[in-house]
Order: sequence, then C-alpha cells, then structure tokens
Amino acid sequence: MPTQLCRDLKISFPMMAFTRGPDAVAEVSLAGGIGIQAAIGFSPDDLKRALDRIATRLDGQPWGLDVVMPSGFSTPDGDKTSGGGMAAASDYRKMLPKEHIEFLDNLLVQYGVPALPPGTTVQNAMAEWTDAVSRKQVAIGLEYGPAVIANALGTPPADVVEECHRRGVKVAALVGTAEHARRHVAGGVDIVVAQGTEAGGHTGEIASMVLVPEVVDAIGSTPVVAAGGIACGRQVVAALALGAQAVWTGSMWLTTFEGQIDAAVTSKLIKAGSSDTIRSKAITGKYARQLRTKWTEAWENPANPNPLPMPMQFLLTAEAVERIHRHAKETGNVDLVAAPVGQIVGRLNEIRPAAEVIAEMKREYYATLAALRGIG
Ligand SMILES: Cc1cc2nc3c(=O)[nH]c(=O)nc-3n(C[C@H](O)[C@H](O)[C@H](O)COP(=O)(O)O)c2cc1C
Repeated sequence: MPTQLCRDLKISFPMMAFTRGPDAVAEVSLAGGIGIQAAIGFSPDDLKRALDRIATRLDGQPWGLDVVMPSGFSTPDGDKTSGGGMAAASDYRKMLPKEHIEFLDNLLVQYGVPALPPGTTVQNAMAEWTDAVSRKQVAIGLEYGPAVIANALGTPPADVVEECHRRGVKVAALVGTAEHARRHVAGGVDIVVAQGTEAGGHTGEIASMVLVPEVVDAIGSTPVVAAGGIACGRQVVAALALGAQAVWTGSMWLTTFEGQIDAAVTSKLIKAGSSDTIRSKAITGKYARQLRTKWTEAWENPANPNPLPMPMQFLLTAEAVERIHRHAKETGNVDLVAAPVGQIVGRLNEIRPAAEVIAEMKREYYATLAALRGIG
C-alpha cells in the first residue's frame, strides 16, 4: 500500500476510477484500485441495479459512488442561486432568448435532423442536476456501504458530509483550483480530487502538472488525488511524484467493454487524437472538455449566439439533443453528437476489457517505479 490514502481506503493500487459501468467499477476494485460508480443520469431503480451488480461481483473490496450536487447555478443575469433552492424549470424556460431558439432550429435543419414524432416527451437533463435527485442517490448509495462518496461540482452540503462521516464513509470532491480545495477542506471533505484542464467533462483551465502540487501545498494533510490526463502507469507514478496520494481516472474507461457508453460515441473516441478536444460550454453552459464536433463548432463560432449559462443551456438544448441522438441511431450520422472526453483520448485507440486495461496499467506502474529506483 504505497500511500496513507491507500492504507485508509484499503487499496493496494493508488487508483480511483470514475465510470458509468458497474462491471468496470468491479474490475477496478477487484484489481486493487477503487471503482467509483457514476450516478448522474441513473434513475433510482437503475442506480440500485448498478449497485446490486457491484455487490454481487465484489467480496468486501471497497468501491465508491459519484454524485453531482451543484452548489449553485447561474441565472441569465449572472446571479448565483443555490442548487437546492433552484427556480422551477418552467420559470427558466420563459427566459430562453428567441435568438438562441432560432439559431438551434436552423442548425438542426442545416444538418437534416428531423423533428421528434408527435407526442414524444423529452427528459430534461437539468432535472438530474438538482439537490433532491442527488440526495436520493446518496441515500441509495449509503444503503450499499460505499467506502467513498464523491461530489462533482462543489462542496457537498454539511448534513450530507456529516451523515457520510457518521457511517464511516469518506467524502471526496473535485476541484480545479487551490482556492476551491481550501473551501472543500473547510467544508469537511476528506479527499480532494485535483482535476487538471486535460480532463474530460467539466473542467477548469489549470493543467494537472501545475494544479496538483499547488493543491497539495495549499491543503496540508488532507489527501490529494490527481485527475486529468491519466491513463497509463507512468502517469500514475508522475502523479505520486507531484504529491498526490492516488489518481482519479475517467476518460480511459469510456473505451472499455464495460464502460457503457453509446457505440456511436465510442467510434468517435477511437479515431480521435489528443488535440481533438475543446473546452466548451456547448453542452451544459459550464466549460466541459469534449471532442470537437459540428455541435461545438457551431456554438464556438463568434457569428452565432453564445451558449447560455447552466442550467439554461440544458433547457434550451434538451429536445435538440434527443433529436440528434435519434437521428444518429437511425442514420449513423454522428456529426452533432457530443462526446465529453479528455485529452488522453489520443491514447484510447481500441475497445478493451477493463481488467486488461488495469492489469497493463499496474505492470507499467511497477516497471516505472523500478526504473526510477535505478536513476535515484
Ligand atoms: C464522459 C464523462 C463524464 C463525466 N461525468 C462526471 C460526473 O458525473 N461526475 C464527476 O465527478 N466527474 C465526471 N467526469 C470527470 C471524471 O470524474 C474525471 O475527473 C475525469 O474524467 C478525469 O480526467 P480524464 O478524463 O483525463 O481521465 C466526467 C468525465 C467524462 C469523460
């Protein structure tokens, strides 16, 4: 067990793996790391099914759950409202600018994306980003006895932190700056995940190489886990050298058989290189790293309207995203399909079993440690 955090979590390989696929979670935990089940987009029943699956595969090995409890949303005038007290979706919808609606309609016409069949209801992604939904996910997760509960956006509410601690569950939270890390520690967070700009999904602008030691130095004894651009054993060793006590990986599991993502998206990831991503507000209204697509191109074009702040962008695009996915399934045309992924996508060139991926990572980790001993 190479670090104190590994000893505390009872893991032998210093890696945490964020993934939608319960079998990928299990493979990582069985291999000595700790798999973290994503909760976003999971209904209560789907989440229970995923956690049941993890429970059947593991034999006491630790695992974790990741929820999205936004600590605040921006309204169109830039004001922050708390996630808990968020205005009703219908109130926000009234604020959608006409210019944006027209732009989106024209974009879909330009790419030949047909309307939805009459009577189709669209599940709005924003509905999943509320305090009520994430609290329910935490409550379900706690019933299954995770070792860690992680929060993506902001410090989890004090009562959630308290409840986790009462049950002996460690609380982790992601950050993109040292200032956020200090706030997390003040809010009772036990593990700070310092995520560099290279990362897939919502991400800040500071690179891992700069951010990780900055966060380590800023928060003293609280363990730091490095995220962003990590998918091989050499990068794990580098993260430990920067002062992290483990790594947190995300993109690399998207191209495993167990990663559970859309086949259309996987094929785009396999072909992409490390310079094919962009940090854009086009999906959620907050900066998220994703593949450069016709969708990001359209939203980044200065001649077009800017993406709206979160959660308005979700409300604006919910129906369009549904239409784009249906069109992609029917025609195979994935031009407009968004694909959040990090710069490490350049290394993800085939779909592989998760067990094989982590075994290779471990081999390279131990070989690199041995090689460095030779240098020292
Ligand atoms: C498709 C995708 C979805 C993500 N969704 C979440 C999420 O729901 N919660 C979260 O904490 N992090 C999320 N992340 C970020 C990951 O947890 C992780 O920090 C990031 O992937 C690490 O960098 P990497 O992509 O270079 O491995 C997501 C990342 C990707 C690629």
